[in-house]
Amino acid sequence: MSTSIAIGPFAQIISMNGLPLKGALRDEQLEVIEHGAMILKNGRVGAVGEATAIRSKAKTEGLFWYELEKPLVAIPGLVDAHTHICFAGSRARDYAARSGGKTYLEIAQAGGGIWDTVQRTRAASEEALTASMLDRLARLLRSGVTTVEVKSGYALTVEGELKMLRAIQAAGQKSLVDVIPTCLPAHIVPRDFAGTAMEYVMYLLTEFFPIVQQEQLAKRADIFIEAEAFDLVEARHYLSTLRQAGFDLTVHADQFSTGGSQVAIDCGARSADHLEASGEMEVQALAQSEVIPVALPGASLGLGCAFTPGRRLLDAGASLAIASDWNPGSAPMGDLLTCASIFGMAEKLSLPEVLAGITFRAAAALGLQQRGRLIEGQIADITAFETTDYREIFYHQGQLRPAAVWKSGQLISEASA
Ligand code: NIG
Ligand code: FE
Repeated sequence: MSTSIAIGPFAQIISMNGLPLKGALRDEQLEVIEHGAMILKNGRVGAVGEATAIRSKAKTEGLFWYELEKPLVAIPGLVDAHTHICFAGSRARDYAARSGGKTYLEIAQAGGGIWDTVQRTRAASEEALTASMLDRLARLLRSGVTTVEVKSGYALTVEGELKMLRAIQAAGQKSLVDVIPTCLPAHIVPRDFAGTAMEYVMYLLTEFFPIVQQEQLAKRADIFIEAEAFDLVEARHYLSTLRQAGFDLTVHADQFSTGGSQVAIDCGARSADHLEASGEMEVQALAQSEVIPVALPGASLGLGCAFTPGRRLLDAGASLAIASDWNPGSAPMGDLLTCASIFGMAEKLSLPEVLAGITFRAAAALGLQQRGRLIEGQIADITAFETTDYREIFYHQGQLRPAAVWKSGQLISEASA
């Protein structure tokens, strides 16, 4: 059945029309349609424009006009391109220790860190993981996120990682949010693996990834490149093998030390995420590549570390996505709009740059072309705020919550979130 509807008038529609994938963006480049309206057709955007024109088009086509009674500013549904929201347990103890000045190593030695979450996630059933994820997905939808990437990486055995991917798939099927799964079995070498890091990589490549492909559980793969995780040689082998097998690649790169972003570039990854430690050389190399840098300000805030050099990346000509990195350890906050607002202010980004980072540039980091802009043909994912000026959305630094969210053209009520 074909369903079409016209909606308006919006105080403003921020379409993201015509903005490039890479480079700095100025305020004047942002298309702001004052007193706008949209036609939604079969879950897609049919037309966007000035309300009077859209209203008469709707009339001619015999479409139902949905009259908005509050002043709303519409932006594309938000895309959170990097999360770890499939997990069990809490790491509040780590947080307190970090806040009190303990180092990562001291925390790991005291039984905290990623390994703590691994043990709790291994002990959780697939159903329990799905249920807790559904709560988090509902929270994301209420905060305006309509597409989210979710990584495995807290089980680190073939069976455990498959359990995570199946839980992610089940949650995606039950939620209205589009869930993009990513395999991260190379998060750290599990403490109970009897072998070297390279042997663990080989075990994943031969025992785990063929099943992922067979069961079509994910098309994306990730690795954490860092001293306490995987080195450059192990990462190159893992990534180049998976690329040949047809996986899309993304990398946890340059978080505390450099090297990872160059591996991401050399292996043709779609994105390189973190980059807090990236220097001028890494910034220039990323700008000259097709890799999308992804800033994770939630991790900087959760660890008390430097931010990704967003300004320098954009000025060098790179793209820049911004994601929450929501996870129980380094980034427990999980609010994309708050993260993006704070990061924008810290890095001196224009609001078009911040908006691009959580919409079409974030979609591109996931290899998705059909979302992130409110233009004809795109998936009708819309987040709307009760205000007359889009700048208010960032001014309130995440405290202005969406008044309405449409997912694939469907208005989401509180109850169905
Ligand atoms: O993106 N850097 C590695 N992985 C996660 C942290 C995971 C955790 O601490 O549980 C990150 O920050
Ligand atoms: Fe992460």
